[in-house]
Amino acid sequence: MVSTLLTPHTLDLSRIRPVIRALQPDLVQWRRQLHQQPELGFHEEATAAFIHQKLSEWKIEHQTEIAKTGVVAILPGNRPGKTLAIRADMDALPIQEENEVPYKSQHDGHMHACGHDGHTAIALGLAYYLSQHRDYAGTVKIIFQPAEEGPGGAKPMIEAGVLKQPDVDAIIGLHLWNYLPVGTVGVRSGALMAAVECFRCTILGKGGHGAIPQTTIDSVLVSSQIVTMLQSIVARNVDPLESAVVTVGELHAGTAENVIADTARMRGTVRYFNPQYRGYFHKRLEEVIRGICEAHGARYDLDYWQLYPPVVNDAAIADLVRSVAEAVVETPAGVVPKCQTMGGEDMSFFLQEVPGCYFFLGSANAQLNFTYPHHHPKFDFDETVLQIGVEMFARCVETFLRDKQ
Ligand code: NI
Repeated sequence: MVSTLLTPHTLDLSRIRPVIRALQPDLVQWRRQLHQQPELGFHEEATAAFIHQKLSEWKIEHQTEIAKTGVVAILPGNRPGKTLAIRADMDALPIQEENEVPYKSQHDGHMHACGHDGHTAIALGLAYYLSQHRDYAGTVKIIFQPAEEGPGGAKPMIEAGVLKQPDVDAIIGLHLWNYLPVGTVGVRSGALMAAVECFRCTILGKGGHGAIPQTTIDSVLVSSQIVTMLQSIVARNVDPLESAVVTVGELHAGTAENVIADTARMRGTVRYFNPQYRGYFHKRLEEVIRGICEAHGARYDLDYWQLYPPVVNDAAIADLVRSVAEAVVETPAGVVPKCQTMGGEDMSFFLQEVPGCYFFLGSANAQLNFTYPHHHPKFDFDETVLQIGVEMFARCVETFLRDKQ
């Protein structure tokens, strides 16, 4: 638990707000510029160049080309202390934008449909603010991370040493969240987002005439039984007090109504919160597939991989973020603890290395029609969230990096 001395209520951070409010026109402009030039994972060259240009303009020490396109800004305070990292992802998605707005994507087939343009603008706003307000004990590292949407930029950035020199004591990140209204913050300790695992399986049967099944091994029948039986893993193997999902999202087999299909292909995803289940679903999935295939005399070819671990927040840092959120949104109702999702995020790799907290920043506004979900071709958000994001981070910095009492 964080001691009460660390809560922002004992600090006068109210001076932060007017300074950051004044940044809002810039935040909007940066976000819109980034929105017009969306780039996919590990191709964020123009984005990284934009960040580099701004950081250079503001005379902020930084490194570029970390894990290809990643950028890290280093902002020492005016006295020594701990190091806090702030993480922002900056990649876009292979989606054709359907919004008719002046800042519409200029890259055909690519779109900032998850709000990472906002994350980057918020992190830039924080960098600028901190460059002008160095009154904190310690160092802030701002990590601009590539490829969150895949294949994952957090891990290669950690391998490149972004959590070292100076060693990071804690990390905080946010995701704009259109499932919450603007002016709210979703934060909780423990698991916030799920582990993401994926599989691909081919069932190898024996094709033949649709009217002469006795000479065949029907891959449609085998795969159907596998899909059904896989649901029993969550229903009958997982502790009912835990949460997990097994989804078969693709199943392809057959070419004609009177032909028994030789092969069937399926792809799916597994999600869970409790890190103890790591490895478990792979094992059970293979047991189910093997057992059913053996019963039918079919063979199989299974690929299973773990993409991201669960996003698990440290209790003390989550408490710090929650108390900052209460000060920023000024109403306890605006801090939402029930905000878990089975979505995944590679922020989890950072949180495996150092204690930290990832939180959701409400960005929906029904009146302005900003209600489309993330990854939708009409996704957009209420830009007032940008100044709220900078204020959240700035107060987290000044709360975490305060002098020892
Ligand atoms: Ni995202």
